[in-house]
Amino acid sequence: MSTTANNARLIETVPRHVAMIMDGNGRWAKKRFLPRIAGHRAGVETVRNAVQVCGQYGIEVLTLFAFSSENWRRPQSEVSLLMDLFLTALGRETRRLHENNVRLKIVGERGVFSEKLQGKILEAEQLTAANTGLTLVIAANYGGRWDVAQAARIVAQKVEMKEMQVSQITEETLAQNLSMYGLPEPDLFIRTGGEERISNFLLWQLAYTELYFTDTLWPDFNTSLFEEALVSFSKRQRRFGRTGDQVELEKQAVTIKTQPGEDTCA
Ligand code: IPE
Ligand code: IPE
Ligand code: MG
Repeated sequence: MSTTANNARLIETVPRHVAMIMDGNGRWAKKRFLPRIAGHRAGVETVRNAVQVCGQYGIEVLTLFAFSSENWRRPQSEVSLLMDLFLTALGRETRRLHENNVRLKIVGERGVFSEKLQGKILEAEQLTAANTGLTLVIAANYGGRWDVAQAARIVAQKVEMKEMQVSQITEETLAQNLSMYGLPEPDLFIRTGGEERISNFLLWQLAYTELYFTDTLWPDFNTSLFEEALVSFSKRQRRFGRTGDQVELEKQAVTIKTQPGEDTCA
């Protein structure tokens, strides 16, 4: 049995939403005596593959961290090459994504991008808006703190306009104004590249997400490595504050409930 087939057998529970920090492109390139941008370019191929794996397993949402609010601190030459790459990748990949029924959504503060890039983003989102397959979320100029702050600003404006009362500010009403509202919260977080940190990614949404870190550099993150992360996720017990016994009992109750239905299908 191939590794992939073996992995697939072990993936019992598929996450609805996977969020990834695609890290390690620069080191991948450095190891090969190539410029950093070569690593970013190779990373685009990995994105294409990851999208395909999600389709294969019926994952509903894939969120990828492409550029953080803090990445502007990089040398101007790298920032500008990254923006160019974003533009060309959007231009090149959108049609293919559309053909594969993928809905594209970009989150982050897009007002600072060039007019051309903003136009392309809008075009890609509009073209794919009605698609019903995978939702691919690209976090670009995104920061978890920015997201919470912009949601707080909207809520505050509503209070100022007397459209809302302070007592109505709850986790739910704040979350309604976050960029990812309407999507299920990430079940699995994957960070490649060896660092074990969140780097200001989805701070609010990761509250109960299962975290997975791998030393593999992003351009090397292939299908079977993605599947290994899915296998690891399958083995986790998600308790959401309850006890392990409670979760086990509930799982058994669900299994018993679904059995008669399964019989009639057989
Ligand atoms: C992640 O790879 C991609 C972006 C942040 C745009 P890096 O560029 O951070 O790669 P390393 O961490 O330097 O290897
Ligand atoms: C996080 O990676 C951001 C993206 C992958 C887009 P970084 O490489 O920027 O993170 P730090 O600086 O090592 O925390
Ligand atoms: Mg990095």
